[in-house]
Amino acid sequence: MASSTSLLFPVFTLFSILFLASSSKDNIPATITIPLTSTFTSKLSTEPLDFLQHLASASLSRAHRLKHGTISPLVKASLFPHSYGGHTIPLSFGTPPQKLSFVVDTGSHVVWAPCTTHYTCTNCSFSDPKKVPIFNPELSSSSKILDCRNPKCLPGCPRCNGDSKNCSYACPQYSLHYGTGAAYGVFLLENLNFPGKTIHKFLVGCTTSAARVPTSDALAGFGRTMFSLPMQMGVKKFAYCLNSHDYDDTRNSSKLILDYSDGETKGLSYAPFLKNPPDFPIYYYLGVEDIKLGNSLLRIPSKYLAPGSDGRGGLMIDSGFAYGYMTRPVFKIVTNELQKQMSKYRRSLELEALSGFTPCYNFTGHKSIKIPDLIYQFRGGANMVVPGKNYFVFIPEISLACFPVVTDAGTSTLEFTPGPSVILGNYQQVDYYVEFDLKNERLGFRQRTC
Ligand SMILES: *[C@@H]1O[C@H](CO)[C@@H](O)[C@H](O)[C@H]1NC(C)=O
Ligand SMILES: *[C@@H]1O[C@H](CO)[C@@H](O)[C@H](O)[C@H]1NC(C)=O
Ligand SMILES: *[C@@H]1O[C@H](CO)[C@@H](O)[C@H](O)[C@H]1NC(C)=O
Ligand SMILES: *[C@@H]1O[C@H](CO)[C@@H](O)[C@H](O)[C@H]1NC(C)=O
Repeated sequence: MASSTSLLFPVFTLFSILFLASSSKDNIPATITIPLTSTFTSKLSTEPLDFLQHLASASLSRAHRLKHGTISPLVKASLFPHSYGGHTIPLSFGTPPQKLSFVVDTGSHVVWAPCTTHYTCTNCSFSDPKKVPIFNPELSSSSKILDCRNPKCLPGCPRCNGDSKNCSYACPQYSLHYGTGAAYGVFLLENLNFPGKTIHKFLVGCTTSAARVPTSDALAGFGRTMFSLPMQMGVKKFAYCLNSHDYDDTRNSSKLILDYSDGETKGLSYAPFLKNPPDFPIYYYLGVEDIKLGNSLLRIPSKYLAPGSDGRGGLMIDSGFAYGYMTRPVFKIVTNELQKQMSKYRRSLELEALSGFTPCYNFTGHKSIKIPDLIYQFRGGANMVVPGKNYFVFIPEISLACFPVVTDAGTSTLEFTPGPSVILGNYQQVDYYVEFDLKNERLGFRQRTC
């Protein structure tokens, strides 16, 4: 990633200079557009089977973390071996601005960056925490430590004996738990700089230590709760159009758009966001009626498709997950039908064993391959059609492909596990313009070459 990110930086620097030159507030842009870089494309191993194994293992970790929300205690699980297929944007904090790359994560709730040269990361997949790019608050004149008087200090301050209104102590250290990982640090209020716009007193975490986090990048939570990046900025919607696919490094970078305007985007279909269960306030759950594979309706029981008040079930859309997840009963329905429709192709049990994905196919000898579309039928009537090439992972060199959606471990005895039952990953969103319409609580989408 280092190479592609650094290519983007000159563009961003230019924007920053333009911003510094215009201090007036008259020129506030209605939209802010930021280049989006895939975390997969440039760090990949060139060995396809290694790639698949990393993908499987990273997907499982991601599923595990999302299934556990952020309020669970730290649980033991495997390392994130590699990045899990997310996307990053450059963000610029402080005065003068310091630029870092942040993973865009609709499944998490705050924005934080490693912020000290003594940053430690235990059991993290990247080699040297000393080389992690950091935001250094000591070099910024606008950095302030969040104190107990500020209502944003949510955990409260035991040291203030109930009188936080007149208590100038620093807000206590945070510990953010991500299912398999954790981050510790202090919250700052800082300037977040865009060309033509500065958000003052943006709440950003200064992380001093972490464990088992998947990337050395900083993290930008884009979830539905109040301290996520879009919520703090007060944008009405944000959107992206993803063009990165498989391990193809040659495509252009995608864009993330932060939008303050009220106007309707032309030509979009919509899926409503559903009310969140109390234990999962962050995620974007989509109202889905059913799923089709080609022409076959899969008749998935509705308890899996809408979240219950106990936090079980529901379909969430996720920016930080390559291929997604289905809980075992849903996975069985989908893969049984898939195998039926793909029965003329040879299964590769060998690749299934190696990769951990099911089913995998060996297409050797077939001139053309037909994979049915995966179709989400949303409440209100809109359909999202995902072509086979966007929900299968291919190894073209040896004519193999797998259905890379992960499911619960075979050892899980629960038929109906807590957390979302279906996670729609970002590869399924490739070549769609996807708009999170926060004001109208809906997801807009349109097929498009990005
Ligand atoms: C790191 O991993 C080792 C080996 O799996 C384990 O013993 C140790 O407790 C882990 N440390 C943390 C802080 O998770
Ligand atoms: C706040 O604390 C200061 C010093 O401890 C004290 O003089 C002042 O009266 C307090 N103000 C309020 C509103 O409690
Ligand atoms: C990248 O963008 C340029 C300009 O829009 C276009 O000409 C080129 O074909 C694009 N490349 C790819 C691989 O899509
Ligand atoms: C795929 O099928 C071809 C033809 O039968 C065979 O030669 C090849 O070894 C198979 N590859 C794998 C990975 O199973």
